[in-house]
Amino acid sequence: MDAPQINPSILSADFARLADEARAVQGADWLHVDVMDNHFVPNLTLGVPIVESLARATDTPLDCHLMIEDADRWAPQYVEAGASSVTFHVEAAAAPVRLAREIRAKGARAAMALKPATPVEPYEDLFPELDMLLIMTVEPGFGGQAFLDIMLPKIRRARQLIGKHGLDLWLQVDGGVSASTIERCAEAGADVFVAGSAVYGAQDPADAVRALRDQAAGAMSTASWACGH
Ligand code: DX5
Ligand code: ZN
Repeated sequence: MDAPQINPSILSADFARLADEARAVQGADWLHVDVMDNHFVPNLTLGVPIVESLARATDTPLDCHLMIEDADRWAPQYVEAGASSVTFHVEAAAAPVRLAREIRAKGARAAMALKPATPVEPYEDLFPELDMLLIMTVEPGFGGQAFLDIMLPKIRRARQLIGKHGLDLWLQVDGGVSASTIERCAEAGADVFVAGSAVYGAQDPADAVRALRDQAAGAMSTASWACGH
């Protein structure tokens, strides 16, 4: 990928004004939609009907991050609801390869997420089945948490593995991504950045998206992993 992508997380937006909040981040590459079931994570957010409505209300493609149990059963419904990318957690999927293939067959990008304690190495062979890998940089469940620096080596290892296989696999980071952490993520190998509080907590969310993208692009331009891109 040539340019970094910034995906504002609507978890930090006003849920009563989602269409307006989507418009407030004009210029964002994707809208990141956090689906939580109060079982996989200790928080409850939204489900299929709201994703359907949001998909109708905005032209920005939806990046649905499913923090739910039994992902095999529910994930395909989010493609039908209008999500252009669907991320399931490997910890919640019984058959990740079959699920990724099903998401792709239905016409969306397939992505797999790893919680902080889940190592990346065991999943190397699954990479060709995926369009994006999400490395969580906080424990999933809530916005506004502090970035976990200890995830930087995992981002580096994931980027090395992607390079080794010569894949066009996007590497997303989610959790605590802000002006003070985005450059470290980009330098380590991330190219898709989710930001909730750093965007919706800003005076001008669209400006915050632009500033984050500039910072990430600057860090990527000197990062060894991105040389030649
Ligand atoms: C956390 C969610 C994130 C959250 C990030 O479990 O997956 O997408 O919205 O929020 P910030 O950017 O505030 O850490
Ligand atoms: Zn998320």
